[in-house]
Amino acid sequence: MRNMELKTIQCMILGMISLIGSAHITTAEEGDVIKGLEFARKECRFCHVIGPENPYGGIGSTPSFYIFAENWDRYEERLASYYVRNPHPARLKKPLPYDHDKLMAYVKQLKRPKKSD
Ligand code: HEC
Repeated sequence: MRNMELKTIQCMILGMISLIGSAHITTAEEGDVIKGLEFARKECRFCHVIGPENPYGGIGSTPSFYIFAENWDRYEERLASYYVRNPHPARLKKPLPYDHDKLMAYVKQLKRPKKSD
C-alpha cells in the first residue's frame, strides 16, 4: 500500500516536471528572437527605440527598430552592417560579441503595437 502511494507521488512529480518543462520549451526561432532582444537591449537601446520596452526611448534622430522591420527590404543590409555605418564605429566603443542571426531575427519580427494596446 505504501509502495502504491509512493508510486502515485512519483508519477505526480514527474507529471509536474514535464508540465513545467514544456512551458519553457521554445523553438529555435523564438530562442533567436529572445537573444536578439537581449543584444539590442545591451547595445542599441540607449539611442534607438528597439521595441515595446522603450517606446519613447532613443535619441532624437535615430530610426526606431520598427522602421527597420516595416522597411525590411531597405534595412536588412543596413542592419546587417550597422557596426561599420556611422555613427556606430565611433560610438560603440566595445561592441559585445555580435550574433548576426539573432539580431536579425529579433528586428524582423517586430510589430508596432496598435494604438489601442
Ligand atoms: C550612440 C548611439 C547609438 C547606438 C548605441 C546605436 N545606434 Fe544605430 N544609429 C544611431 C544614429 C544617430 C543613427 C542615424 C544615423 C543617420 O541617420 O545618419 C543610427 C542609425 C542606425 C541604422 C541605420 C543605418 C543606415 O545607414 O541607414 C541602423 C541599421 C542602426 N542604427 C542599427 C543599430 C544597432 C543594431 C545598434 C545596436 C547594436 C545600434 N544601432 C546602436 C545611433 C546609435
